[in-house]
Amino acid sequence: MPDYSQQLVETTFLRKVEHLPEAASTNDRALERFSLGELQPPALILADRQTAGRGRGANSWWAGDGALTFSLIVEIAETDTRVALWTGVAVVRALESMYPANRFQLKWPNDIWLNRKKLGGILIELPPNRPDIAIIGIGLNVNNSLREAPNEIRGLATSLIDATGVATDRHGCLQRIIDTFDSTFANRDDADLVRTWSEYCGLTNRAVTLCIDDVPTAGVCRGIQSDGALLIETADGLCAAYSASQVRVNE
Ligand code: BTN
Repeated sequence: MPDYSQQLVETTFLRKVEHLPEAASTNDRALERFSLGELQPPALILADRQTAGRGRGANSWWAGDGALTFSLIVEIAETDTRVALWTGVAVVRALESMYPANRFQLKWPNDIWLNRKKLGGILIELPPNRPDIAIIGIGLNVNNSLREAPNEIRGLATSLIDATGVATDRHGCLQRIIDTFDSTFANRDDADLVRTWSEYCGLTNRAVTLCIDDVPTAGVCRGIQSDGALLIETADGLCAAYSASQVRVNE
């Protein structure tokens, strides 16, 4: 991609943009530069190629050539655990505005789905001792075909080019996500999170199994509750899950 740093600074809420041809992990780079006092929010680190991307937990994040990988550094209200969920809403809104014929969904807590396959993921991290700052890493499979992906993810994930058959302007896509992130956060009403999330939730009313501390919990998903927890109706009643190492759909 040509260097769009200046254009993004001029046309979005971002004050600083670093656009790199390659980075190991944009989240690592953002954490490092913020901790050294070199980058203040709102800022963006964008890498055309990411070679050692990290996913949630101990997972790595595969990003073939043509993927979109970036990290936002933003101020958040302390203890706002719903940032991750609103970020997912912003990303699906941006994608559906670009591809209205496709159905983009959210898989709690942070996966972006297209045709029930993983199109993207969000990794939110806080710099040490700064609960008021979020590093929001977003990885999206855009022009990278899953044909090039490692075997273990090929059947589980998809990309925009695999699903639509057309190449996407990566910069246009990024700009749309940044703009939609801005408008979604500026206008968000946490009292409306449950309703908004339910528009996109790919798990509601489906039989799922969650692994919480390695213990599986099976039931039917009933969406989320207002603090962002996932609701599962189990044989023992309604259970609210705040984190899970794995969320599996049982069909
Ligand atoms: C997940 O689904 O497990 C989250 C994946 C997050 C990947 C993105 S790509 C940009 C940013 N940098 C990283 O190292 N990870 C995130």
